[in-house]
Parts: sequence; structure tokens; C-alpha cells
Amino acid sequence: MSKRVYIESYGCQMNVSDSEVVASILAKDGYTSVNSAEEADLVLLNTCSIREKAEYTVLQRINEMNNLKARNTGLKVGVLGCMAERMREDLLEKKKVVDLVVGPDAYRSLPELLDKVGTGQKAVNVLLSREETYGEIIPVRMDTNGVSAFVTIMRGCDNMCAFCVVPFTRGRERSRDAHSIVGECQDLVTKGYKEVTLLGQNVDSYKWRDQRAKETAQVVDFADLLEMVAVACPDLRIRYSTSHPKDMTDKVLKVMARYDNICKYIHLPVQSGSTAVLQRMNRGYTREWYLERMASIRRHMPDCAISTDIIAGFSGETEEDHQQTLSIISEVGYDMAFMFKYSERPKTLAARKYPDDVPEEVKGRRLQEIIDTQREASRKRLSTYVGRTFDVLIEGVSKRSTEHMYGRSSQNSIVIVPRTNRGEELEPGMFVRVTIHGSTAGSLKGEPVGPVEEAMLNA
Ligand code: 5AD
Ligand code: SF4
Repeated sequence: MSKRVYIESYGCQMNVSDSEVVASILAKDGYTSVNSAEEADLVLLNTCSIREKAEYTVLQRINEMNNLKARNTGLKVGVLGCMAERMREDLLEKKKVVDLVVGPDAYRSLPELLDKVGTGQKAVNVLLSREETYGEIIPVRMDTNGVSAFVTIMRGCDNMCAFCVVPFTRGRERSRDAHSIVGECQDLVTKGYKEVTLLGQNVDSYKWRDQRAKETAQVVDFADLLEMVAVACPDLRIRYSTSHPKDMTDKVLKVMARYDNICKYIHLPVQSGSTAVLQRMNRGYTREWYLERMASIRRHMPDCAISTDIIAGFSGETEEDHQQTLSIISEVGYDMAFMFKYSERPKTLAARKYPDDVPEEVKGRRLQEIIDTQREASRKRLSTYVGRTFDVLIEGVSKRSTEHMYGRSSQNSIVIVPRTNRGEELEPGMFVRVTIHGSTAGSLKGEPVGPVEEAMLNA
């Protein structure tokens, strides 16, 4: 019997990475991955609960599965990830088309659950774990350009930000074996990858000790891990996400500054510019603390780019609080930001303690002002790169013009360059030295200068 699986990922990079682990577990169980739901015997939706809208999108997609099942009666549909964890058996009740519900820590049980589904029963496993890291599973890379890959270094989150559902959907924080992380990165290098992004909800609290060595073993923290990867893979570009302002140490900044192959880019979510709001959000830092961390980044790496996440209209946010968010955007000068309207999530501290009291139209207006302010900040920031030269890792053909390629600088700016350089075609995976001659709020334009060299990593 043929076993063809199609996995669709929603939400964060962590979900993309998890889908690759799922693909690996299923490959061992005899499944081959296909590229569309129409070709599949099994469709798995790896879902996100972060905002109500994210869940709504998935619920719509689940409805579409009814049509597919009508045409292919053997088709099985599974829901994985954060919505599976949050909604559990309710999902089977609400959506009859769903056969299988599996939470983020239960993917190893997929083969048994699928056996059960094969006999016409429904199957659920949403047990969270304190240990599971899928450490030794070699992910099957999907949707990849063959240039950059994600490597999960830790799972779960112990922070309890008042707005966030993640601690409930992904459970307690645990760190993956440092040696298995380094091994996976080395394996990526041998497969021709040029860049990794180390993933965790809060990478700064990465902490791992070799259990076999017991007390004698040194604790490996995030700075140590970064250094281990940078040394083991000198030709690999290294990125990571996400940092937490309350935990980001100067030790990490020093390691970043020391190694050319660690990208000069930090995603440092601020969420709000108002200390009062940050306190209610339970973020564990003040506006001043955040700005001090920013100053430290700039002291260690004057060229480091910063991006952020911002929430508009959290419970109790006043006009004055909102103005403070606008002012921190201009003060920091972010390269890029992800901006959202606050969406109350069940079970969270905020849902239990704070009313969702900022009217929808006020949230909308504030979000628009945040977007406008950020666009201006990005435009200004990116214009400072004009006239400078960066090493760009080419990722693919530009979406706007087949005569151009796009890539990224160490600072994570998207850089557009002509496809041919002195008669030589640029290919994904090449490093090119580029002088920037134009900028917008979202990307840079440049010309390659000098010969194209592979593995030239100077920032
Ligand atoms: N409403 C709106 N945005 C949220 N985020 C997390 N939870 C919520 C929520 N309930 C945003 C935060 C976080 C990013 C991943 O999503 O800004 O950093
Ligand atoms: Fe990722 Fe959070 Fe969405 Fe889960 S809820 S998929 S952890 S963004």
C-alpha cells in the first residue's frame, strides 16, 4: 500500500523545524513526502495558536479537507502542533474530518497512532514532556533552498509572558544535547548548506550538561553553544532566534563579536515601550533595561542589526503607553519589526487577570501608527547601508525580476543583485561581495564587486 504524506506548516520557524522531524519519523515508517494535499494519503497540518487569527486560518483549512476527503475516501487528516495541544479532543468533536490530534512532544508516537487511524479509529496524543528534544532525529529538510536550514536547540518556554499561549502549548523548557546540535550543523555543511538558524523560544536560557559526565561536566550555556558551532563549522553562517531582553548576556555579545561567521543580527522582541505595560506583560524588564541592552549590543558590535516584535493594544494600554512604544521604535532604529494587535488567548495570565479592554478600532489605529513609525525607522536605517560593501549569501531568484537574484547580508537585510556578474551566473549558495547603491524600507539593491568567492564570510 502506498503511504504518501503532505505536511503543511503554520506559525513560527519552530513549526517548520518540527515538521522536518515529523517527516523524518514518518520516512522511517515507510511514508514518502509529497508536495500537495491532493497527492497525499495523509495530510498533516502543523498548527499555530499564537493569535486567534492564526487559529482561524487553520480551522478554514481543516474545512477544506472535507472536499478532499469526498474525492479521496482513504485520505486521513491529522492536526499537529500548538492547536492540537490547546484544543485536544475538542478538535475531533468540532471538526469531524480530523482523524488524528498530536501535540508537539508526542511525534515519536505517530507510527502507532497512525496504525490506530488505519483501523478507522480516531487517535490523540497530547502529552507534554519534560525531556523530549528529538535530539538524535535527523530532520528531513523540506521546502528548502538548499542554502539555509533551521536547527532546534531547545523546546518549550518557562517565561510566562502574560499574553502568550506558548508555555501551555509547548510545555516546559528543555535544552537539546549540545553535541547533537553541533553534529547536525556539521552534517548540514557536508550536505552543502551555507547557513543555519539555531532556534528556541528563548535561546538565552539554553543550558545543557552532559548527564553521562554528571557533576564533572561543565554547563554549556548559549554563548558556549554558539562558540562551539562557530568553531566546528567555520564556513557556515550562523543565525539564531529568539533572544529575550531580560536574559541576553554580554557573554553572548562577545562571542558574536569574536566570530565572523556569526551573523551580526539580533531579533530582540520589545513588545512595548512602556514600563507599566511591560510589567503587566510579565516581561521581566523595563524600558530602561531594554535600552541598556541595546546600548551594550552597539558597544560590542556597532554594525549589528536589530529586529523586534511589538504588540498593540495589550490590556490597560493607555495613549501615553502607546506613545512610548512609538518613541522606542524611533530611538532604537530597528531594521525590521513584526507588529501585531493583541489577541487574548485562553488560559494565559492575561486572560485570567486582565480584561481585553482596548477597543478593536483603537488597537487598529495604534497598530497602523506603529507600522508607519517602523516603516520610517526601517527606511532610515537601511539608507545608512548605501555606499557600503557587504558579503551577501545568495538564496534564489528575485520574485520581482528573473534578471535579479536576492540574498542576505550578515545583518539579515535582503539584497537584490543582477543575476549575472561579469559573465558569471550567480547561484544560490554563493557568497558575493556587494556594494549597496539603493535602499527602500524593506530591501537593498547592489552590484557585486570583485570576483565571486565561495565561503567568504567577513561581515
Ligand atoms: N497577541 C498578539 N501577539 C502576540 N504574540 C504572542 N502572543 C500574542 C498575543 N496573544 C506576539 C509577540 C511574540 C510574537 C511571536 O507574537 O510579539 O513575540
Ligand atoms: Fe510557534 Fe507560538 Fe505559533 Fe506555537 S503558538 S506555532 S510556538 S508561534
